Amino acid sequence: MIHEEITELETTILDHNEAPFDIRRDIMFSLVSIMEQMVTGERKKGSETFDSFVGMIDKNFGKTMGWIANMFPMVRYIPGDPFGLMEVIKDTVRNRAFMVNTVRRARDAERNSIAKYYYEEMEKNLKNGKETTQTERQLCATIGNFFTAGIQSKTTTLCWALLYLSRNPQVQERMYKEIESVIGVRQLPTLEDRANLPFCEATLMEVLRVANVFPFGGPHQTNKDIFFRGYFIPKDTQVIANFSSVLHDSKVFPNPEEFNPSRFLDEYGTINKPDEYIPFALGKRICVGENFARSELSLILTSLVQRFEFLEPRNKELATGVFVSAAERSPLPFDVIAKHRYANYTEMDQDLYTYKE
Ligand code: HEM
Repeated sequence: MIHEEITELETTILDHNEAPFDIRRDIMFSLVSIMEQMVTGERKKGSETFDSFVGMIDKNFGKTMGWIANMFPMVRYIPGDPFGLMEVIKDTVRNRAFMVNTVRRARDAERNSIAKYYYEEMEKNLKNGKETTQTERQLCATIGNFFTAGIQSKTTTLCWALLYLSRNPQVQERMYKEIESVIGVRQLPTLEDRANLPFCEATLMEVLRVANVFPFGGPHQTNKDIFFRGYFIPKDTQVIANFSSVLHDSKVFPNPEEFNPSRFLDEYGTINKPDEYIPFALGKRICVGENFARSELSLILTSLVQRFEFLEPRNKELATGVFVSAAERSPLPFDVIAKHRYANYTEMDQDLYTYKE
C-alpha cells in the first residue's frame, strides 16, 4: 500500500516538470492517503479527509494560543476571544462529527481496517463482560491522534529532509549510491532493506536530530514530590521537557547545527546511536508512533532519493528561516527542483520502471 502511494507521489512530482515547487502539500497528501487506508481500509484520492480534517490540522496546529489554552484553560474566558480560540473549538467539534461518521462507515464496510478491528474487539469484550476502556469516543480520539500527531510531524520531517539534501548534494549522492548498490533502481526499497542502508538510516536520524521538529514535549505532571539534580519539584507540578537541550548539546553532538549524518556511523560504517538521541522522547510517554514513523519516513525518503535528485532552484531567493509554533519547528515554505534520475537509465531499465507499468 505504501509502495502504491509512493508511486503515486512520484507521478505527482513528475507533473512539476523539473520546475521549482513547494513539495509540502504533495507529501502531506500521500501521508494522509496511507493513514486513511490503514484506518478505514478505503483509498479516496483527493478525499474529503484531506480537505476537511487535515486542512484544519494544518491551519490550527501552529496556533500557539491553542496550546496555551490547553495548559491554562482559563484564558478561554477572556472576553472578545482575542486569540481566535473559538474558531479552533468550532473546527474541533465539526471534525469530531466527521471522525464519528468515518469510523462508523468503516465499521459497516466489508473491508479490513483499524476501525473495524477496534469495533469487533470492543463488542467482543462487552459481550463477554470483560472490563475494557474501549469506547467509540476513545477510537475517534486515537485516530484523531494518528492524524494530528502523525501527519504533521512526518510531513515536516520529510520537508526538512529534502531541504537539507538539496543543500548538501554530497550527502544526497552518497545515499543514492548506497541505494543503487544495495537495491538497484528497479525496485522500490522495502522495510527489510533498511538494515542494509546504514548511511540512509544515519541521514534520517540526522534530519530528526538537527531539524528537532518537536523542541519541547507536551505538558506532563509530577504524581509525587521529586528531587532531581538538586532541585525539588513538588507533586502536581507541570513539567515540559526541553528536547533541544539534548539533541543540540555540543558535548554529545559536536557542531550541533551542522548537518552531518556520519556522526551516527562508527568506523565500520554501522549505526551508532548515543543515549541522548531522543527525537521521539523517552520513558513512559515516549512517542507511540515512533516505529511506524521511522519505517514510513525511511521508505518514502529512500524511494524519493532513488527516483529523483533534489536541487535548490537557481536565481531564486532561498528560504532560510524557521517557523516555530508552540508545538513544532518547521522550515519556512521553500521550493525544490526534483530532477528525475530516470533519464540516466538505458531503454531496458526504463521499461522496467515501476511507474511505467
Ligand atoms: C517524525 C515523526 C514524529 C516525531 C518526531 C514525534 C515525536 C514525539 C514526541 C517528542 C512525543 C513526546 C511528547 C511529550 O513529551 O509529551 C510524541 C508523543 C506522541 N506521538 Fe509522536 N512523533 C512522531 C510521529 C508520530 C506518529 C506517526 C504518531 C501516530 C501515528 C505519533 C503519535 C504520538 C502520540 C499519540 C503521542 C503521545 C504519547 C503519550 O503522551 O503517551 N507520533 N511524539
